[in-house]
Amino acid sequence: MKNLLEAKNLRKYFPIERGFWRKTKAMLKAVDGVSFSIGFKEALGLVGESGCGKTTIGRLILKLLEPTSGAVFLENEDIFKKTTNLNLAEEIQIIFQDPFSSLNPRLTIEEIVGESLIFHKRVRTRQEKRKAVGELLQKVGLNSSFIGRYPHQFSGGERQRIGIARALALRPRLIIADEPVSSLDVSIQAQIFNLMKDLQEEYNLAFLFIAHNLEIVRLFCKRVAVMYLGKIVEIASSDSLFQEPLHPYTQALISATPVADPTVKKKRIVLKGEVSHSIESFSGCPFHPRCFKAIPLCSKVIPSFEEKRDGHWVSCHLVNGK
Ligand SMILES: Nc1ncnc2c1ncn2[C@@H]1O[C@H](COP(=O)(O)OP(=O)(O)OP(=O)(O)O)[C@@H](O)[C@H]1O
Ligand SMILES: [Mg+2]
Repeated sequence: MKNLLEAKNLRKYFPIERGFWRKTKAMLKAVDGVSFSIGFKEALGLVGESGCGKTTIGRLILKLLEPTSGAVFLENEDIFKKTTNLNLAEEIQIIFQDPFSSLNPRLTIEEIVGESLIFHKRVRTRQEKRKAVGELLQKVGLNSSFIGRYPHQFSGGERQRIGIARALALRPRLIIADEPVSSLDVSIQAQIFNLMKDLQEEYNLAFLFIAHNLEIVRLFCKRVAVMYLGKIVEIASSDSLFQEPLHPYTQALISATPVADPTVKKKRIVLKGEVSHSIESFSGCPFHPRCFKAIPLCSKVIPSFEEKRDGHWVSCHLVNGK
């Protein structure tokens, strides 16, 4: 098996009540039949508009949510099977978007970072814990003497470093980074980005890197998956995706990304309409109501997800095959 993680036809539907008397029951299809893989030490990017289901995928992989259907394999083990011996926290950890709400304000840094070391019996004595936490703080660029401080005594960037130290404590193989830099100042973003890159090398980490900022994803990830309304509509190597985006939605996303070079002229594709809700059931391609290239077929038949170039998968009727 060459992949660390494989998600197969993963679905998560949330029941919601609608109407004045809240009598109408409907299903919000937050994740709707998603399959992807993450190789050992590979960083896979996950992009798409707000509400398309990125965080829900992360929470499913962490088993914080039960899937409606589908499976997630970590190497050969289905993480949702009761019989598995996997201790997921030792394999997969998360770095949250908001470094302010993700750290318990009542705990010291020693407790926050060292909690899992005690729980998983990686250290036995208080002294061992202090030593391990001090080393972790140094790894993420913080002074080990900060160990007794509380989260409010740190800046946003420093708190994110603490969040990273906590995620690293058990030496996981996969880190889910859910918008890890988007709430930080631009200058701090670069520092945290570089720290994660260095740690990825040093600890051979695989990442599921969720972000809105396509440029950051491009720099961090070898492969990128693009989501729209609970589905992955395109997946490819970063080079292939950014040089030749095949799905009209990806083309629109990339056209909206500012480029640093003033000599490069880009025509921005403005999508019509709003993101529809994944409660509504469509016939055809879920993107067709907003698609600037749609043909009559698009409103009738759901396009299949196919490999149209080497390693470049897309679901769109308008893209010719290999
Ligand atoms: N516990 C829940 N109950 C009901 N609906 C939910 C729940 N969690 C998420 N959703 C809905 O599922 C959809 C996907 O949410 P999700 O948080 O995964 O999106 P996202 O892509 O991470 O968005 P953002 O970029 O804003 O973080 C949204 O419509 C959201 O309202
Ligand atoms: Mg999210």
